[in-house]
Amino acid sequence: MLKILVLGSAAGGGSPQWNCNSEVSKAVRERKNGASPRTQSSIAVTSNDINWFLFNASPDLGSQILNNEQMHPKKDLRHSPISGVVLTNGDVDHVAGLLTLRERQNLSVYAHKRVHSVLKSNSIFNVLNPEYVDRREMMMNEKFELMDKKGDGVGLEVEAFEVPGKIALWLEDESKGKDFGTQAGDTIGLRISSKEAGESFYYIPACARMTDDLANRIEGSKVVLFDGTLWQNDEMASSRVGEKTGQRMGHMNNSGNDGSIEAFKDLGVKRKIFIHINTTNPILLEDSDERKIVEENGWEVSYDGMEIEV
Ligand code: MLT
Ligand code: MN
Repeated sequence: MLKILVLGSAAGGGSPQWNCNSEVSKAVRERKNGASPRTQSSIAVTSNDINWFLFNASPDLGSQILNNEQMHPKKDLRHSPISGVVLTNGDVDHVAGLLTLRERQNLSVYAHKRVHSVLKSNSIFNVLNPEYVDRREMMMNEKFELMDKKGDGVGLEVEAFEVPGKIALWLEDESKGKDFGTQAGDTIGLRISSKEAGESFYYIPACARMTDDLANRIEGSKVVLFDGTLWQNDEMASSRVGEKTGQRMGHMNNSGNDGSIEAFKDLGVKRKIFIHINTTNPILLEDSDERKIVEENGWEVSYDGMEIEV
């Protein structure tokens, strides 16, 4: 048994984004076109309905816990079913929720050493008291079992691997050339499996392009949750809310010859699910042409509270 709970299906900023008045954000505020509010990027996973791990911790984590009964304290005066967190990069939408997890709770936080070094150099993350919170380095291309703070396995195994991406926006260094100082390990994908039954799925909320290595990994898999940030590369400009392209932000677009719909066409993935979707992306509107195209190509658009059994 492997259960996934989508806590937040939107990209950084959420949908609606607080200062955005473009089509989707507006429609969500006005509850039009089947447009639902979405919080920022995170999922929770369990293989026993008791111990859950978060994969990324979004700035909306407080309301995500409130809105999902599975995340509530179950026993004792202080308790959480959340045993720990695995981080896929250092983006604000993926790490800011760690600050919500203060208050002396046992947790383990797994990340690539690049992301750990970022957390270490920001003293605000010291609210995660080291007496209670273990920070564990995640090796790439090695399967291991996630363990709670006490060192007990929670029945979930993870294999992390590097994917094309970009250093977190707030760490970009223009003096370091066109990739702003990006290094291997700044963006990773995960294969998550249940130790007992062996079911598995892939969680890749950011990816700049399909590589042969990635295609080989995910070919024939049951479920892939994949970077759904933008419908097209120049969407921020065409929606007149910014000028950055998807490629500049480290995200491949859904559509087009270089997009994810095309890249997944012959990979035989049984459930393909977009996650980390930006509020400019028209696939968020249930009655849009783009949503129709996505669905015709066998993709699902994740939503907050979505439950997936693998
Ligand atoms: C991204 O996924 O590109 C980032 O979350 C952007 C951001 O930090 O706003
Ligand atoms: Mn992001």
